[in-house]
Amino acid sequence: MIVDRGPARLALALDTDELETALDWARSLAHDIDCLKIGLQFYLRYGAPGVAAVREAAPEPDLFLDLKLHDIPATVRGAVRAIESLEPGYLTVHASGGSAMIAAAASALPRCRITAVTVLTSLRPMDMQQLGLGNPADTAARWAGVATSCGAGAVVCSAQEAARLRPIVGDRVEIVTPGVRPADGALADQARVATPYEAVLAGADLLVVGRPITRAEDPVQATRAIRESMREARAVLLSGNDRVGQH
Ligand code: C5P
Repeated sequence: MIVDRGPARLALALDTDELETALDWARSLAHDIDCLKIGLQFYLRYGAPGVAAVREAAPEPDLFLDLKLHDIPATVRGAVRAIESLEPGYLTVHASGGSAMIAAAASALPRCRITAVTVLTSLRPMDMQQLGLGNPADTAARWAGVATSCGAGAVVCSAQEAARLRPIVGDRVEIVTPGVRPADGALADQARVATPYEAVLAGADLLVVGRPITRAEDPVQATRAIRESMREARAVLLSGNDRVGQH
């Protein structure tokens, strides 16, 4: 039986060195996105007060803290407790930290979706080979299975792997896909990419987009175009016609 998971959501990556820029993006795009993702570039510079300023500027979207924690279980547990008061909806850890580390994070913050990053979307098959790891899809599938069995409430992978991960992680776990690029978008440092349309068709729950919006001439218009592609893909999913068009 196919479970309708509801419309996929959109997270905006607030990757900038400038507080005012982040606040501008948050304010001007708050109505068109579902989550604000704060990553290392912003968090290491502005910390908890910066997060509070973003939340005040845009209280509606969920907070996605992308800190990609990766350490021994006790240290990760302590780090998770240290950000508890920020009340993130999502907090990332690296799946490669292993089962005890993921379980420590999940038990430290049960109200948050501990979000396990499988294989970074910037890694190509040859990068994995260099590291002595299997191909990205096999590795992502394996790590996603371990992470969800240890309490992760979401997994991060490329949209190229989302359909393969769904039966492994089940229906209660969210699949989060960065590396989203409109058909004519610049890849920059991303490698395993998909369009917003393809990501929704593949079963992603939350699409993470940064530069295709923040570097666009008109970020509001770029966001709305992405949302439109997501709506079109959902309509195709609901009609049971999963042929991928040119989107
Ligand atoms: O600008 P762009 O759309 O490439 O931004 C993608 C965002 O998602 C960045 O903030 C990056 O840190 C994050 N991310 C990623 N790949 C992962 C996990 C997170 O690109 N596997």
